[in-house]
Order: sequence, then C-alpha cells, then structure tokens
Amino acid sequence: MTRNQTQPVSLEEITALAKRRGFVYQTGEIYGGLANSYDYGPLGTELLLTIKNLWWDYFIRRRDDMLGLDSQIMLHPQTWVASGHVDSFTDPLVEDLVTHKRYRADLLIEDYFKKNPQEQLVIADLSTKELADLIDKYQIKSPDGNPLSKAQDFNILFETAIGAVSDKKSRVYLRGETAQGIFTNFKQILNSNRQKLPFGVGQIGKSFRNEITTGQFVFRTLEFEQAEIEYFFDPEQNNWQDLFRDWQNYVWDFVTKVLGIDENNLRWRRHTDQERSHYSQETSDLEYHYPFGWKELCGIAYRTDYDLKKHQEFSQQSLEYTDPQTGKKFLPHVIEPAMGISRIFLMLLCDAYQKDPDRERLLLALKTNLAPFQLAVFPLLKNKQELVDKARDVYQQLRQKYQVAWDDRGNIGKRYLAQDEIGTPFCLTIDFTTLENDTVTIRHRDSAQQERLAISELDNYLASMLA
Ligand code: GLY
Repeated sequence: MTRNQTQPVSLEEITALAKRRGFVYQTGEIYGGLANSYDYGPLGTELLLTIKNLWWDYFIRRRDDMLGLDSQIMLHPQTWVASGHVDSFTDPLVEDLVTHKRYRADLLIEDYFKKNPQEQLVIADLSTKELADLIDKYQIKSPDGNPLSKAQDFNILFETAIGAVSDKKSRVYLRGETAQGIFTNFKQILNSNRQKLPFGVGQIGKSFRNEITTGQFVFRTLEFEQAEIEYFFDPEQNNWQDLFRDWQNYVWDFVTKVLGIDENNLRWRRHTDQERSHYSQETSDLEYHYPFGWKELCGIAYRTDYDLKKHQEFSQQSLEYTDPQTGKKFLPHVIEPAMGISRIFLMLLCDAYQKDPDRERLLLALKTNLAPFQLAVFPLLKNKQELVDKARDVYQQLRQKYQVAWDDRGNIGKRYLAQDEIGTPFCLTIDFTTLENDTVTIRHRDSAQQERLAISELDNYLASMLA
C-alpha cells in the first residue's frame, strides 16, 4: 500500500482530516474565517514542534560549523530599505474593476491556460508588463467574470507603526524573511563567537507576506514560519558551486532520511533568470509533488555578498571578516538554504496519507519519530476497574519515555481507526488475559496486525521499534 500514486489524495481530503483530528483550523472560523490564515490544533502543534526540533538538531546542533540565532520580527526599518525589499519585494496584482477584489496576475493567467490548454506558457518567466499584455491579449477576466485592471507590482511587506503616532518616522515592517536578522547581526556574531569561515547561522521564526493567493491551505499563508540558514564563506577559498551542491545533498538527506519522504515525490528545479529574487545569483528549489502540483519546499540561493554589502553601505559600519591567518579583510559570500515549516508540515500529511480500502480506513503512515503519539493505550472496557487500573499503570510507565495517547471511549475498532488517522504507530490493549498473565496486545498501524507481548518485554521491544 503506497500513497497517492495509485490513489491520489486531494487537498480537500487533507484539509478535512487536518480539521477533524485537530491538526489545523481556519483562523477565526467563528467569524467566517480570515483569508490565508490557519491555526494549529493540539496535534498540529505537536507535529510542528517535532519538525522544528528535528530541523534544529540536524542543521544546527549536530554540526560544528553552525550557530543559532533568534532575531526580532520587527527589525530596524532601514534593514528592509538596505536589503532591497522596500523596492523589490513585490507581487504582480490585478484588480477586478467591479468587485475591487485583488488577484495575483500570474495565477489568474496560469488558471486561464489550465482551462484553455491550447498554448503552453511558462508563467514564472514573465515580467509584470508581459503578464499585463497577456491579460489584454486573451481578454482574461476575474473569477467573477469581470474585467481586470492593468497588472501592477504591489509590495508584500506588512507595514505597522511603533508608538501612538503613525508617521513615516515610526513606520516598521514585519519581517518578510528571517534571513535579514542574520545579516544585521553578522558583526555581533563574529565578535562574540570567534567563529572561523566557513560557518553558518540558522534560525527558525515567523515571517509575514501580504499575499493575495488563496486556496493552498497552509502552503501559502500571510504569516508563516521559516527555517533559514546563511552559510558564510570566503569565495577565494571555497567554490560556491561545491558548497551549493553540498547543501543540496544535506537538505535532500534531511527530507528523505530524517522526514522519510518518498523520493519519487521530490525534484530539484533551477530558477530561471526572471524568477530569481533580486539578491540571488543562482537559486534551486527542492520541490514536492503536492496535490496541487510541484511546488517549492526548500530554496537554496547563492546570495553572494549582496546583503552584507548593502548593510555595510547603509549602516556605514564595516561588516568585514578578518582572516586570522592572513589578515585579509573582506565581505563573506553566502549560500542560503531556506525552508518553510508549514510546507514541511503539509508535505508530511500528504506523503503519509493512505487509503486502505480493504479495511475501510484512512491512515497517516508518518515515520515513528514524527507521529504526535508513538503509542496509544486502551483498557478493553472502561467500566471494568481492574482493566482501567492496569491500563493506567502501563500508560503512566510508558509516558516516562514516549508521547502516549489514552483512549477508553467506544469500541476498540473505532479507537484503532481514530489512532490510524493521527498516525499513531502502535496501540496497546489491556484485556482480561493481561490480568491473568501480564501480557498485552500490540496492534501495528500499517499492517493492522496484532501480536501479544509480555509487559516486561515492552521496554526493549519499543526501544527497537521506535528507534
Ligand atoms: N530568504 C529566502 C526567502 O525568504 O524566500
């Protein structure tokens, strides 16, 4: 039983499961929902934390050449002027001339050509002017069937103000990428850590983009969590292509080995010149085959010394590194591997989602290290106190080491189905035989097979199964 090659999963199915089981809720649903915004429920929160912990361990803690950082969401506003985001961080938008709703021009055109496949176009390659010309040429209308305004660039940085006044001087931005906190702290990190090049700085944190896109669930949201690394190096000592390739391999291993994603659902795609961000000389995306197509999971960019140079120029402070051996002073270059935590989250749900028609069930075949609960413990009947007491003992014992769910509601079959849908790899049932000989049944999520095991053997057994 493999996932969606034979039975593709739709985004609607993922969304429904995520809501039903408490992974993801729409923000402000009681008020009709806030567009492009989602809250994470109890199980979603666990999964997010697990992803972040695995990322932090793999990319920061287990490497000698990596340091962590936690910079602010509101950075000094000059940061965004220097970085070029105030001028260049834009989406091409059009407005419905009747309803005044706004849409991404490229996405409307993409939709148009999906419905009218007479011509093949690579939208990612087109400038705003070219998008505007296409809308004109094909008389593309809004989803409500109304004429559209000319496509224009719209800055997607969120603005807010510090203090009671909102004049130009108090204006700040919610960060559009976590990366800038790394660049603006580069000198402090150097001074306080005596780290030699090459080395990287990583951080996980919220970023904000005032985007118009809808209908991609947690893939693209106004507020989202990034996990970004800036890897600083001396371009005379290290070839950027080699480092770029090393990071591609390192990221690939994280996604396939640590997260257990099927390689068939992953591919690298190099950015065209048009679509590359203003700061990048080379970008490749690791794309995942989401239910709505191949989309970016992780971007790796060669940002050169663009950002440090800009911040040095705007701050009038030297941000140079001094080589301890030769005394050479220079601005390091960077390779940037950047991932979206909620994109990893969505990928995990899509990749793990399986339909098992033989047993009329759905299951999330998450790797055991990712499942919100590794185990569930059930007393066979909830009104037999000896069973409940014994099950409670086992539950408390296992909770010392694992995330364990307790369920005593309804019949056992329904409890299995509920645990299958949240990805719990093992369910343990305490029944009347347990009271006689201290054994339990262990039921396996993926095969739905059961076996019997002595409670005294549980520790070793689980240590090997959940390693
Ligand atoms: N720092 C890269 C990005 O935010 O897409």
